[in-house]
Amino acid sequence: MPKEIKNKKINQERLLPLDLPTKKDSNKVSQKQEDIEDEKPPFETTTLWDYPKQSYGKKPKGDNKFQGVTPAFIIWNMIQRYTKPGDLVVDPMAGSGTTVDVCEEEGRKVIGYDINPQHPKVIKNDSRKIPLEDNSVDMVFIDSPYGDNVNYSDDPRDIGKISAEDPKFYEELEKVAREIYRILKPGKVIGWLIGDQWVKRKFTPVGFKIYEMLMDKVGFEPIDIICVARRNQSSNTRIWHYRAKKFNFFLRGFKYLIIAKKPEGKKVNRRPKKVQWRRYK
Ligand SMILES: C[S@@+](CC[C@H](N)C(=O)[O-])C[C@H]1O[C@@H](n2cnc3c(N)ncnc32)[C@H](O)[C@@H]1O
Repeated sequence: MPKEIKNKKINQERLLPLDLPTKKDSNKVSQKQEDIEDEKPPFETTTLWDYPKQSYGKKPKGDNKFQGVTPAFIIWNMIQRYTKPGDLVVDPMAGSGTTVDVCEEEGRKVIGYDINPQHPKVIKNDSRKIPLEDNSVDMVFIDSPYGDNVNYSDDPRDIGKISAEDPKFYEELEKVAREIYRILKPGKVIGWLIGDQWVKRKFTPVGFKIYEMLMDKVGFEPIDIICVARRNQSSNTRIWHYRAKKFNFFLRGFKYLIIAKKPEGKKVNRRPKKVQWRRYK
């Protein structure tokens, strides 16, 4: 059997149990209940992810009332691709504990830190220093502040107190990124969720700046960038859509999930490959 077909078959087998209900039942009501309990997110195969709700399944993941809570689907997809059961996942800014809840349900070991924990298992810590050994972690997921748009706490160490227009914002996040780099095992992956800013008629490409910091300053190697649709935002109201039209600006429609890895060994300078573009007919 050709290799691609063989691989496709493996992927199908991996996906099907997640999409289909597990038990045949003639009682439609109890079947529906079971589907909700067994519900798992779709395994994403493109770079565009869009979720109508924050969580899935019976047990909540994180707190959907927490401002800035991460869609649990993102973390689920990250750990499916880049970890296996028993691996250690770390979230240095775990807030209401979405990463903790997703990882526990999927049989991963997990440590969540936050300057202002909102979940009993999240440990209080300023993540510019992470109390873990070098090369000890299998994956890191982080959904950092995107600037000073959300008031997470009164703690002056909260990086969300610094404007994304201020270079200090990136300097402080770079300290967190360097710690993440230190604790990750070589070849292992970080997922960093980040959004751009448009405030007082000024656009700040926060995502590009974080990307540049991660790759050029800290030394991560890019894997990909996912575009995650932004939903349930405070600006998703008629008045904001009206203002966006009247004053000719755009409301934020997506965030970036930057996926990168800590290099396994010394960097090899590869020659750029010539791309064969296909043309429209
Ligand atoms: C976007 S929220 C994270 C949401 C979280 N993933 C969840 O689902 O609930 C950003 C978090 O960064 C935390 N934070 C800000 N500065 C920090 C620091 N220096 N060290 C650790 N956490 C920090 C905030 O307290 C906030 O909870």
